[in-house]
Amino acid sequence: KETENEVWMTVHAQPGETQILPGAKTKTWGYNQSLLGQTIVFHSGKTYHVTLKNSLPELTTFHWHGLDVPGPFIDGGCHAPVYPGESKEITFTVNQEASTTWLHAHPCPLTGWDVWHGLAAMAYVKDDHEASLPLPRNYGVDDIPVVLQDRRFHEDNQWDYDGDYDPDGTAGPTAMLNGTVNPTFDVTTQKLRLRFLDGSNRREWRLHLSDDLVMTQIAGDGGLLPEPVKMTKLMITCAERAEVILDFKDYKAGDKVTLYSDDCPILTFNIKEFAADDTELPAQLNEINYPEPNKDDLVHQVVLSGTDEEVGINGKKFGMMRIDDRQELGKSEYWDITNTNDCCGGMLHPYHMHGGSFQIVSRNGEAPYPNEMGLKDTVSVNPGETVRIKMRFNFEGVFMYHCHIIEHEDGGMMAQMQVY
Ligand code: C2O
Ligand code: CU
Ligand code: CU
Repeated sequence: KETENEVWMTVHAQPGETQILPGAKTKTWGYNQSLLGQTIVFHSGKTYHVTLKNSLPELTTFHWHGLDVPGPFIDGGCHAPVYPGESKEITFTVNQEASTTWLHAHPCPLTGWDVWHGLAAMAYVKDDHEASLPLPRNYGVDDIPVVLQDRRFHEDNQWDYDGDYDPDGTAGPTAMLNGTVNPTFDVTTQKLRLRFLDGSNRREWRLHLSDDLVMTQIAGDGGLLPEPVKMTKLMITCAERAEVILDFKDYKAGDKVTLYSDDCPILTFNIKEFAADDTELPAQLNEINYPEPNKDDLVHQVVLSGTDEEVGINGKKFGMMRIDDRQELGKSEYWDITNTNDCCGGMLHPYHMHGGSFQIVSRNGEAPYPNEMGLKDTVSVNPGETVRIKMRFNFEGVFMYHCHIIEHEDGGMMAQMQVY
């Protein structure tokens, strides 16, 4: 069923089996398929009626990470359980910039378990502005989702979550891209748009290409950057998204280009014949007019502290019955996010807010990185650092904020606020 402005769809969390490694299939979970999910495409301005169906043996939730949706029951965090065998319909209108968002399970405190089993999928937002720009957008041909995850498997090819469980974040030695190991991709166009999502439980990815091929970042979590940013190395932390353009003009059919994370090759591009493409990226991609907070208003404080089982926010563990902060609907206010870890060797915390996108103001008083000047919903907060953001909420209700190292979140490095 689809009309011009209304779309109906079903997202079905289901168990299945997936051939990931040679030999036995892995028992996995996914959305409408056995592992992860097909990319969902939303158009800004349309209304969506989404049936959420749970065929898993346990309760789960459907969280729209980066999608601006009304209230906690549609947002799909801890407040919105869908029990085994249950289906329910949610309705929301998408009204935001073109961006790469994602859907993942968020049952507290089992988000780490659910995501590790496969409950994560890309969800693109499209809009007229992005459609007017000369950017690659032919899905699967020159516009490619890249879900970055890492896993450990038992000898019988089944997930090993418990064996490697770490309250500071579970990681595994095997890089998995879009649910596959050591994938290759045939490049048939000179320019390629990659939409990276760090969908791993704790790992950050330090991405670079053979020959130090330049990546031009055009978008972050919440939409296009003000201007393209060229780089040869890109770090992406849990739940962040980064869209980059690669230009293979100096390569010819038969060449290979490798994507690495640290020293580990994770994806091979096989260059095929392609037509020359000299389209230039626009010098300006987006205009961001985030409202200025009132200087006299209080600055919200979020102190991320502790390690292992001791993690918390402002010295407390998450309490579903407790409201930790409040902010008025539609108002923009400053939030200071501090990571108390030692700046030599401590962990970074990828900090995430539900309920809207923010803009980064400063890092320890200095300018943010050039590739984080667009709208964001997750920001890496380095050890010893305070990141100031401005944040506006677009819907009333209770929204969570937390570290997106999923075991930190599950372990209580999470709080919630009331938008009134
Ligand atoms: Cu990506 Cu609270 O979640
Ligand atoms: Cu979220
Ligand atoms: Cu953390």
